[in-house]
Amino acid sequence: MKMRSVGEEEVMGVDVPIEGGATAVAAESADLSDAVAVVTGAGTHLSGPGIGAACARLLAAGGAKVAIVDRDAEAADRTLAAIEAEGGAAAIFLGDVNEEEACRETIAAVEDHLGLPSILVNNVGILGAPGTVVDVDLDGWDETMRVNVRTMVLMSRHCVPRMSARGGGSIVNLSSTAGLLGGYPTVAYGTSKGAIAQLTRLMAQHHGEAGVRVNAVAPGMVWTPMIADKISPEMRDVRRRSSLLKTEGNAWDVAAAVSYLAGPAARWITGVVLAVDAGMSAAMALAPVEPLE
Ligand SMILES: NC(=O)c1ccc[n+]([C@@H]2O[C@H](COP(=O)([O-])OP(=O)(O)OC[C@H]3O[C@@H](n4cnc5c(N)ncnc54)[C@H](O)[C@@H]3O)[C@@H](O)[C@H]2O)c1
Repeated sequence: MKMRSVGEEEVMGVDVPIEGGATAVAAESADLSDAVAVVTGAGTHLSGPGIGAACARLLAAGGAKVAIVDRDAEAADRTLAAIEAEGGAAAIFLGDVNEEEACRETIAAVEDHLGLPSILVNNVGILGAPGTVVDVDLDGWDETMRVNVRTMVLMSRHCVPRMSARGGGSIVNLSSTAGLLGGYPTVAYGTSKGAIAQLTRLMAQHHGEAGVRVNAVAPGMVWTPMIADKISPEMRDVRRRSSLLKTEGNAWDVAAAVSYLAGPAARWITGVVLAVDAGMSAAMALAPVEPLE
């Protein structure tokens, strides 16, 4: 194994900075100034940022040029305004990621205006059709799979070759703890989010040699604008108490994990599905359990 000198220290590896030691490693790990980041569903809801908008803003704050991809022009404008107020650089690419042609055109336009993409956050997802296998509406089932899984395939297929052309890249897919565990009341959402976990591992396998890392973040019961009007105060409290930390998470908690996995600090991480859920998925039972004598 190759040894390089860092000041008076010896370290192994070839890609770590060889000057400046830990200070340089810390700076390089946080530096996204070379990055072109595409975030789907990056628009901001009237009542505040969801996960996509928070990801876009954190990546921009790290120095990335951010492509705000959304089908809602006003929501996209709100994110652009926030990024510009925060001193970041971004541009809007309006489009519906359900449509293959829109994905192809969006990524081509990103390349033309911002450069080859190096980060893709596949964030768009819907709660989808209610019901069990017995009563789920089958068109609703198809729509849930289409929006939650197929959009990630479409966006990735146009990004991976470009990432490869620039020497590598990083994709982060939004899964959910509903896709890692049982417990979710509807069959379509949990199944689609489970499919994303497996899609992530297979993409990591297929594109690792091209330098493209692929990871997923699986949020737990996060409080976001998109669900705020669907949940009663009582249910909000049940959700908070269902985690080990008994604290409510928000879009920024998820975006911090996405930003970490997307960036150079995670350069040796691929194929991971990272639960960001205040420990909800770490425990078998959340009810108090009597210790065994
Ligand atoms: N909120 C939670 O508790 C939670 C928990 C687990 C996983 N997730 C996942 O996190 C992701 C983000 O969820 P969120 O609720 O924060 O939403 P969000 O606010 O990040 O995304 C909503 C945005 O996506 C845009 N959008 C929707 N469909 C689109 C399409 N087809 N093309 C382009 N833009 C589109 C909307 O216009 C809106 O601006 C989803 O994949 C969701 O399943 C959320």
